Amino acid sequence: MNQTVAISAEAVGGSLDGKNVVIFGGTSGIGLSAAIQAKAAGAHVTVIGNDRQRAQQAASENGLDDWRAADVTNPETITEAVSTLDRVDHLVLLAGTFVAGKVLEADVSYLRRAFDERIWAAIHTLRALGDKLAPDASITLISGALADRPNAYGVAVLGAASAAMEAFGRGLAMELAPRRVNTLSPGPIDTPILSKALGDGRDSYVASLKQTLPLHRLGTAEEAGAAVVFLMTNGFMNGAVLNIDGGSRLV
Ligand SMILES: NC(=O)c1ccc[n+]([C@@H]2O[C@H](COP(=O)([O-])OP(=O)(O)OC[C@H]3O[C@@H](n4cnc5c(N)ncnc54)[C@H](OP(=O)(O)O)[C@@H]3O)[C@@H](O)[C@H]2O)c1
Repeated sequence: MNQTVAISAEAVGGSLDGKNVVIFGGTSGIGLSAAIQAKAAGAHVTVIGNDRQRAQQAASENGLDDWRAADVTNPETITEAVSTLDRVDHLVLLAGTFVAGKVLEADVSYLRRAFDERIWAAIHTLRALGDKLAPDASITLISGALADRPNAYGVAVLGAASAAMEAFGRGLAMELAPRRVNTLSPGPIDTPILSKALGDGRDSYVASLKQTLPLHRLGTAEEAGAAVVFLMTNGFMNGAVLNIDGGSRLV
């Protein structure tokens, strides 16, 4: 028996035609890849990063619509950056660095950045946007596998800030409903963050990490960026944490 199945664009995601997408941390790595994919799906895309030149370059080299520079640990620059935005249909908050330092050794002011870049940056951004956030907007936050699987090498605070983002996302989904709020939790993804954090040690770290991973490779920015676009576009994803880790949590 033949059956006709109607598939709505909202259910399967897909088109972002005419939607305004704003990505903090969209000038590099996962965020830049999400920006490129959102643009290809028809969105008007604004990327925001800390480094002004990198933000301008990321937008111009990838045909993105607009860019801003803001330091998400500085609320004034967030307010300034969003002051000239119009309605935001999809907000993505990925800006952050690999804050690594042992609890008994690192400067507390440095460790505090893990929360400043994530929880407090999200709070300041949402307050700065106010009613610019569309009533049916999606918000995508970032955490990371370290929230579930820490190690002994100085990631306790970053893991805690990441776990906090997941709890924050669930609370926001209730406070901001019917806006949707989700959190992406990546495992190891091969982006510039590794060189920024490890410098010359990046290659040996990646080589030894690959041996331990089920897929014997890191994820790509494209794979993680596609997961961001999925969270934006699937209208029934809400209050969720999406792991994209190649099975790294299993080992
Ligand atoms: N890659 C991974 O394995 C992995 C795993 C778990 C979680 N994550 C998280 O995923 C997010 C994106 O990481 P990624 O791998 O794509 O790293 P990335 O390539 O280094 O990109 C980070 C982005 O965040 C921006 N950023 C950093 N600090 C900022 C600040 N203070 N103010 C404004 N923008 C700032 C960067 O802009 P500038 O370049 O101008 O600084 C850049 O656009 C991060 O929050 C990271 O912690 C990554």
